Amino acid sequence: MQLYESYTASETRYAQSDFYRRCGNSGLMLPRLSFGLWHNFGNITPLGVQQQILRTAFDAGITHFDLANNYGPPYGEAETNFGIHMDRDWRPYRDELIISTKAGYDMWPGPYGNFGSRKYLIASADQSLKRMHLDYVDIFYHHRPDPETPLEETMGALKTIVDSGRALYVGISNYPADRARQAAEIMKALGVPLLICQSRYNMFTRNIEEELLGTLAGEGMGCIVFQPLAGGLLTDKYIHGIPADSRAGHDPRYLKPDMITEEKIARVVRLNELAAKRGESLAQMALQWVLRDGRVTSALIGASRPEQIRENIKALQFPDFSAQELQEIEAILA
Ligand SMILES: NC(=O)c1ccc[n+]([C@@H]2O[C@H](COP(=O)([O-])OP(=O)(O)OC[C@H]3O[C@@H](n4cnc5c(N)ncnc54)[C@H](OP(=O)(O)O)[C@@H]3O)[C@@H](O)[C@H]2O)c1
Repeated sequence: MQLYESYTASETRYAQSDFYRRCGNSGLMLPRLSFGLWHNFGNITPLGVQQQILRTAFDAGITHFDLANNYGPPYGEAETNFGIHMDRDWRPYRDELIISTKAGYDMWPGPYGNFGSRKYLIASADQSLKRMHLDYVDIFYHHRPDPETPLEETMGALKTIVDSGRALYVGISNYPADRARQAAEIMKALGVPLLICQSRYNMFTRNIEEELLGTLAGEGMGCIVFQPLAGGLLTDKYIHGIPADSRAGHDPRYLKPDMITEEKIARVVRLNELAAKRGESLAQMALQWVLRDGRVTSALIGASRPEQIRENIKALQFPDFSAQELQEIEAILA
């Protein structure tokens, strides 16, 4: 376990202008780029590398770190490792951090370790706090809709999680627009408004544009979008094949090599050319693109090394897209 020397955060971490956006109608500001620990924080990444990634993110102004009970591998490991980093680096900065976790996917065996029952969510919140060495999380999410548990039960559990001090705010993830609207109405009636919805959004996956974004804005909720780089596909890294040290090369649990099709790469090549004309990398352009709509509060990125964060954070410094550039992107994606 190689951990680096003690940490003092950069004094310039809040220097980037307009970096924080209000989350819906709430009092909470989130960074436009947030950082997720889904990949690269389990037992296949050295703790020293994890530590450097987290430090680089915070030094760049990223105050929001997103976890879930089942991030690993194995399940729980990202939270356990985050607990180590918490003790080592983050305790003095706890009040500058927004830490989130979730429950909703399969986590432990039997009928109480999955989906959306009150039993599962409250037990899982307690387990997560223990693994992360925290008294509370800032945001607790129901990770995906449960087709069988009454929404009133799931939302009631979220209210209990706030009322009991386990979380300051609550949110939902992967909910379609109609379920999100129902959930928001239930929580308003319970006096604990939903803060935010977490949904997949990138140049290749755009369904939230149809209805969800409008629904969330109407309910006064924020929207944090995950996988803005499609797991790395919306960068230049796969243009000439699959590098051994890429996600598809060494950890293809979710980004499988057969998902990197010739058709996708042909579009990536054209997007990469357009990004080069703008003087930026494709990763930077793809991040700017998901944030072009003010209803998107934050884009939730991952990284396997600190340099990626240093590159991605600069995305917000490039000029807005012209109408013509947006049309060119539409034509490439059509
Ligand atoms: N709520 C949900 O159901 C859900 C689902 C999925 C994700 N999420 C959240 O979203 C977060 C982000 O997901 P993600 O990691 O898939 O997002 P992503 O930002 O689309 O992909 C991140 C990956 O892209 C590569 N990359 C990043 N910057 C790069 C650059 N500048 N140049 C080249 N490659 C670069 C790295 O992979 P390499 O290993 O190839 O370097 C990195 O790990 C997760 O950690 C999690 O918090 C939530």
